[in-house]
Amino acid sequence: MTELTIAIAKGRLQAEALDLLTSTGLGFSIETLQSRRLAIEDESGRYRFIFVTPADVPVYVEHGIADCGIVGRDVLLESAVDLLQPLSLNIGACRIVVAAKNDAPLGQLGMLRVATKYPRIAARHFGARGVAVDIIQLSGSVELAPVLGLADCIVDLVETGKTLQENGLSIVEVITESTARLVVNRASYQLNAEAVGRLIKSLDDTLGRRARGD
Ligand code: PRP
Repeated sequence: MTELTIAIAKGRLQAEALDLLTSTGLGFSIETLQSRRLAIEDESGRYRFIFVTPADVPVYVEHGIADCGIVGRDVLLESAVDLLQPLSLNIGACRIVVAAKNDAPLGQLGMLRVATKYPRIAARHFGARGVAVDIIQLSGSVELAPVLGLADCIVDLVETGKTLQENGLSIVEVITESTARLVVNRASYQLNAEAVGRLIKSLDDTLGRRARGD
């Protein structure tokens, strides 16, 4: 019987998350891993994994559809949901930055037009500095906005820096660092304490072994 349902952020984090779970001893058949199925079980049948858009991981966990989730801190900072975050997973490292065209005179502008997939993080960042901003919310390819004149700068995630570089943008300021977190639904943490505790321990042990290079 399935003990836990775990929501995993699709995309950049997915392979690293499955690799980490495999290192804890969970088995997945090649067929399962290569399929496009959005809900799979591990070979023991104890865990069910659902693959959802990163921003939806906190939603599934908060509503208790998933007991736990694996998602970037960037997504959690942008989300308003109340989840337990018992473990930082040391995968999916990236930074949230302000970036602009290499020669942009940002300091001389009055109202700054900021394009982003992270409107809350951007508003908090500029709000704390007393900078007036017009936040333009986009869903992706945010780097195009300054290039095409839609915005003066962006607040976006940077991993390798390649996308910024290849679009003629550079980092103005690092807002924060991000890695993936294990998140847990508050009720599951109480009601399913044994299974959640086992998952946390096996992930923690695996991270410890990785840190020691075992
Ligand atoms: C993210 C982010 C940047 C890019 C950064 O986009 O928004 O565009 O990755 O990665 P890099 O520093 O390694 O180049 P994502 O791939 O999630 O796609 P999106 O454009 O749809 O947001």
